[in-house]
Amino acid sequence: FGTGVLAGLSVLISAGPTREPIDPVRYISNRSSGKMGYALAEAAARAGAKVSLVTGPTALKVPNVQELSRVETAEDMYHCVMSKVSSANIYIGAAAVADYCPETAANRKIKKNRPEMVLTLRKTRDILSAVSGSAERPFTVGFAAETDQLEDYARQKLAAKSLDLVAANWVGRGQGGFENDDNALFVCWNGGHTYLPLASKTALAEQLIRLIAERYHAQNSA
Ligand code: C5P
Repeated sequence: FGTGVLAGLSVLISAGPTREPIDPVRYISNRSSGKMGYALAEAAARAGAKVSLVTGPTALKVPNVQELSRVETAEDMYHCVMSKVSSANIYIGAAAVADYCPETAANRKIKKNRPEMVLTLRKTRDILSAVSGSAERPFTVGFAAETDQLEDYARQKLAAKSLDLVAANWVGRGQGGFENDDNALFVCWNGGHTYLPLASKTALAEQLIRLIAERYHAQNSA
């Protein structure tokens, strides 16, 4: 794998979950472990790329990359990614960005003195769409996790977010995805698709990086 398929290229990767504060002690988050994003970061580095990783909170060991930025909220991740996008040739959005965050975070701990409470949530900004819509527009890769109609939703995401490639995995089928060490992917781009069967996230990351490099070079030599 030391062929350097990404030699000379800068790759920006987002990984992990985000945390959306409710009050100083509580937050809304999701089950993302960050493993797929970190594995992609390491694989891209091994393929010769200069890698910048923007990560939400994870329990993973610091990967071997040129630059690591730690963020908490979707809003923080948006600003961090957008500040780096102009120097990236490729963006891989592997983070499980919260779709909604509390409209306001209380600045004191909320007491349990009511029988019920209502939290108003508002939509976060879509980082991936912002990247693919930016003036500098790197080759843009998105992820999709679906419980059904995976191929259809992946194709829709490719178009809706103007992406160059979508990597989609099944969730809730006992075959990889969130929190697991293994994963399987359906990958599509304009004009093609492929299946990467169940494998370790490390092995899968290498295959996906190779595919991304192939598509990137096909686009940029045409
Ligand atoms: O539309 P959906 O959230 O399912 O798309 C998932 C893809 O979009 C992932 O690549 C994820 O990193 C990205 N995303 C994002 N910003 C959001 C929500 C999702 O970049 N606010």
